[in-house]
Amino acid sequence: MSVPAEENVITPNSMDTAAGLAPASAVSGTASAPASHSNAAPDPDRAVASRVRTFDNAQLRKDFDDQSAFLYLEDFLAPEVTAQLVAAARALLPEVNRNYLPGHKQGGSVSRHTIDRLAPFIAQLYRSKELIGWLEHLTGDKLLLSPADDPHAYALYYYTKPGDHIGWHYDTSYYDGRRYTLLLGVIDESSCRLDYELHTRNPEKADERGSVQIPPGGLVFFDGDKLRHRITPALDNEMRVSLTFEYVTDPNMRPWRRVISNFKDAIAYFGFRQVFSQFARRNAKGEGV
Ligand SMILES: [Fe+2]
Repeated sequence: MSVPAEENVITPNSMDTAAGLAPASAVSGTASAPASHSNAAPDPDRAVASRVRTFDNAQLRKDFDDQSAFLYLEDFLAPEVTAQLVAAARALLPEVNRNYLPGHKQGGSVSRHTIDRLAPFIAQLYRSKELIGWLEHLTGDKLLLSPADDPHAYALYYYTKPGDHIGWHYDTSYYDGRRYTLLLGVIDESSCRLDYELHTRNPEKADERGSVQIPPGGLVFFDGDKLRHRITPALDNEMRVSLTFEYVTDPNMRPWRRVISNFKDAIAYFGFRQVFSQFARRNAKGEGV
């Protein structure tokens, strides 16, 4: 478990301050934009570069390919980045939208729309050119940001009550191309595990089961249509928070898939107000969805 150095720990209060002072442009900017919002917030590009240059990236690319588009790294993020995410996750607890789908999932989530308002550092990290470039190296694909109206583009998932979990599923892409999920461990004071099955869509390889507990700063990266996975139920007094980033190879989506995707997001994750208010606002502005 990577514990941030004491001098780098950002408290929820200082995170609020950092978020409050961030210019709106920081949300859509990259790390090369003026970092005027806070001295406490690390430069995402520099922080990512400092880590990935220490890896054997040729081997990681081979591992990703050998595991049918799946990779787990126990220690990925720079400690100062993890500290920012932990502070943001705690500060956003009042914003969590709780959901319950009998027999399949129970938990909470905070969508990218709320993150844009209250935790722009996460949006900057999502757009880090260093991060995207490294993921492109792993996949061999040109990766694009998810469209602005996709609440999953970057989102926090909370397991804070007994029984919070999600059953076996794929992160199905409703887009025309592939969709990759980058899952970052943020808080793990829990017994929850990510159980997974590799190769289920690869007829040339036997299925292979695995299970990991993702510490803060750890990473799981996979093609959502290829990895069957679940999160096991939380017990009493446990707390787990993960952050996911979604990248696509083609941001187009057929209209009927859009309808299915929006209803799924509203019911299973973020609530109708979050999903459909953004949808209506974009239609009113004549933007594509
Ligand atoms: Fe998933």
